[in-house]
Amino acid sequence: MLNDVKKVLISKDEIETMVKRLAEQISMDYEGKQLVLIGVMKGCLIFLADLLRNITIPVEFGTITASSYGSGTVSSGQIKIINDIDIEIEGKDVIIIEDLVDTGLTLNYLKDFLRLRKPKSVGICVAFDKPSRRKNPIEITYKGMDIPDEFIVGYGLDFNEKYRNLPEICVLKEEIYEGLID
Ligand code: PRP
Repeated sequence: MLNDVKKVLISKDEIETMVKRLAEQISMDYEGKQLVLIGVMKGCLIFLADLLRNITIPVEFGTITASSYGSGTVSSGQIKIINDIDIEIEGKDVIIIEDLVDTGLTLNYLKDFLRLRKPKSVGICVAFDKPSRRKNPIEITYKGMDIPDEFIVGYGLDFNEKYRNLPEICVLKEEIYEGLID
């Protein structure tokens, strides 16, 4: 697996520091509130688990699975909910947890989708942001770090469902994905 990696972009230590900073901020801001984290699967899985373990106030969590792609790797521009949340959020303070924001399409859709359930508030927490790829402006409440527009995997992020288990954020060698993505 490591043979497929061109370079490590963000180390385990850097990720850990980032997660602790975000969790500390969230714990301060939501003290005394009914906090619910909604993780956007599958990419958020590891980030969500790390964030939860570093939050020091009472917190619930749920997950939602959305897909912006039709068949293959070409984005259809349409979001589909594959698995809805199984947790009550009415009147609660929700934060959507994403591993990566790219065009912003997914988060814009999910924010409106979750608002229909009448939460008290909806914030957004993103580990990694590719601002150069944005098509739909989105206000990020808690941001880990900006990253360049490179093909990254690891820490939950995949290529064809693989590499999610790499503990760092890595840049994949071109020959692995050449001809397979847009
Ligand atoms: C990735 C990522 C976000 C979305 C961001 O998910 O986890 O959910 O794309 O892209 P956008 O800002 O252009 O909408 P992906 O569809 O790859 O699924 P995954 O989480 O299962 O890896």
